[in-house]
Amino acid sequence: MQAAQITRYKQAIPAINQVPIPHVENDDVLVKIVTASINPIDLKTKDGGLKMLLPYQMPLTLGSDFAGIIVKTGAAVTQFKAGDAVYGRVQKNRIGTFAEYIAVDQGAIALKPNHLSFVEAASIPLVGLTSYQALHDVMNLQAGQKVLIQGGSGGIGTIAIQIAKWLGAYVATTTSSKNFDLVRSLGADKIIDYRTEKFQDILHDYDAVLDTRGGQTLEDAFKIIKPGGQVVSIAGLPNARFAQAYGLPLWKRLAFQFVTRRLTALEKSSQATYTFLFMNPSGPQLASLTPLFENGTLKPTIDRVIPFNQLQEALRYSHSGKATGKIILQIADPAEMGN
Ligand SMILES: NC(=O)c1ccc[n+]([C@@H]2O[C@H](COP(=O)([O-])OP(=O)(O)OC[C@H]3O[C@@H](n4cnc5c(N)ncnc54)[C@H](OP(=O)(O)O)[C@@H]3O)[C@@H](O)[C@H]2O)c1
Repeated sequence: MQAAQITRYKQAIPAINQVPIPHVENDDVLVKIVTASINPIDLKTKDGGLKMLLPYQMPLTLGSDFAGIIVKTGAAVTQFKAGDAVYGRVQKNRIGTFAEYIAVDQGAIALKPNHLSFVEAASIPLVGLTSYQALHDVMNLQAGQKVLIQGGSGGIGTIAIQIAKWLGAYVATTTSSKNFDLVRSLGADKIIDYRTEKFQDILHDYDAVLDTRGGQTLEDAFKIIKPGGQVVSIAGLPNARFAQAYGLPLWKRLAFQFVTRRLTALEKSSQATYTFLFMNPSGPQLASLTPLFENGTLKPTIDRVIPFNQLQEALRYSHSGKATGKIILQIADPAEMGN
């Protein structure tokens, strides 16, 4: 099969190599991949930016989420059968969805939502789970609470705005003016143009911030949070609390404690909590979101679909930071697979 691989970190262009179809363990299904989505984590992984959290072996096939069709099941698989259309975010130590096939644990996948195309389905797993885990599991966002979602027009923002509205929150978001109509259509109540305005001059007394930018933008979030509020970042630095819960060795915990000392000070001075979230793949949680896509409560936002053999162009566009919603890789044609 074909797979997009790197043999070393910072390799300029992943190579599309011929490799064996993956072996199926007892709890695995083998999926013929139809579509995969591009996520910023693909470039971070390629460039070694996640080495402290995820040490990978080379060669490494890139890609974290997918939609496709099961062609084989392992001996212990009970929940799925060959022919099922499924989608999922694969386990972090077994990535590789930029390929024609992937072996994936049955616990990481769910049946594809009815009436959604493979393109739409592949746009959901990583950003859908991350947004739900941030807003629901970590923040426990309640109806009537105020949340700021940074980067409302991105892969995360487009789904996070909709989930926050479904939870009943008042949603402020940042984007550039060309995307105002988009984020308004997704439900945003207050829209701030990050190019001309400073959110910290406009918003105050927020219950929660979902930070997708890190750096100074993350530090500024503490200026708008009310005492007892929560700043949850998916793009900032992991702190010592995260490192301990993630089971990292002492030296890494101390390293993260050192680099996040400013955030720890801001937590104290604002009486808010800082959480770094590294999303968890979960088939059952993805299945719990499926009905929301089937009944139209949540809608995918697709920027563009790019053929597999133009992966480099897809990664380049993702790196530009200008995508509105998701970039999808078309790996196979479902019509040729009887779907
Ligand atoms: N920790 C985790 O588990 C986890 C999971 C998922 C994602 N992430 C991280 O979350 C971040 C966002 O991911 P994504 O998929 O949403 O990225 P993305 O789709 O590439 O984001 C692109 C969007 O960001 C907007 N944007 C650019 N600069 C901005 C700024 N300064 N303020 C507000 N919006 C801005 C752009 O809007 P304009 O075109 O209008 O400028 C564009 O629509 C990435 O760093 C990713 O690695 C982490």
